[in-house]
Amino acid sequence: MLTVTTIAGVRARREEVGRTGVRIAFVPTMGALHDGHLALVRRGREIADEVWASVFVNPAQFAPGEDFARYPRDLEGDREMLAAAGASVLFAPATKEIFPRPPATVIDLPALTGGLCGAQRPGHFRGVALVVAKLLNIVQPHVAVFGAKDWQQGAVIRRMVADLDMPVRIEVHPTVREDDGLARSSRNAYLDVDQRRAAVVLHRALQRGAGAAAAGERRGAALEALLADEVSGEPLARLEYAAAVDPDTLQPLENVRGRLLLALAVRVGATRLIDNLLVEVS
Ligand code: PAJ
Repeated sequence: MLTVTTIAGVRARREEVGRTGVRIAFVPTMGALHDGHLALVRRGREIADEVWASVFVNPAQFAPGEDFARYPRDLEGDREMLAAAGASVLFAPATKEIFPRPPATVIDLPALTGGLCGAQRPGHFRGVALVVAKLLNIVQPHVAVFGAKDWQQGAVIRRMVADLDMPVRIEVHPTVREDDGLARSSRNAYLDVDQRRAAVVLHRALQRGAGAAAAGERRGAALEALLADEVSGEPLARLEYAAAVDPDTLQPLENVRGRLLLALAVRVGATRLIDNLLVEVS
């Protein structure tokens, strides 16, 4: 696996590889890799000839007071895992390489970011959209793979790519979970033993909501109340939002028909965890 730290280095490699007709799948990450990230790399190998990954903790998507400074970083470990998973290129730029000056460009998708995490993290998705647009322009992959765990992020990127006619296909891969159902996340590393046990409440609440939908509950507000009720039963957890929304528009669903996204954000101690579940009702 080749490690590249400069934009010029990626472009040079991309031009070489482009001449041979090789198809490239791209997996952007912020590092501290776990099996969720690696599942995206493995998926990339199934749908393309080479997988290129990036590790860049993007300052533009953290608000002041969020965990940018203490976000887990382990580039050596990430490199080993990516190589073992079969990635061909790792792009690991310094902050100054991606943001040599404060950007004057804003990519904003207000229709998709007014609710859920966007409501609680103002500016977050502008930071995500900008860095993903930059990374896609630098790497120029045929396909880019994202995780369903960050559903709103996937919806934002999909729409940005469509609106801006960016020549890349976006694929969303299902969420990878621990044995007890907790979604894998780099932020799980912040949890102590008791908090780790409490964190399963997100999955439990989503399962309960999905069960109620399967049993005939069609009122979005009632499903949201069920999720909130389950979270309130866990003393170490504090609900940030519980939502039943349309999976594409992310708008609240008064009455559920067809596809439904149940989504949760919960604080366990100081750690903010998110999870979601796509539910199909007949
Ligand atoms: P990060 O949180 O490192 O996640 C990188 C990719 O891995 C994202 O597409 C995310 O949805 C996916 N992922 C994380 N946990 C997962 C899990 N348990 N199962 C499946 N996929 C999972 O998301 C970001 O970084 C950043 O916002 C980024 C897109 C890189 C832009 O900075």
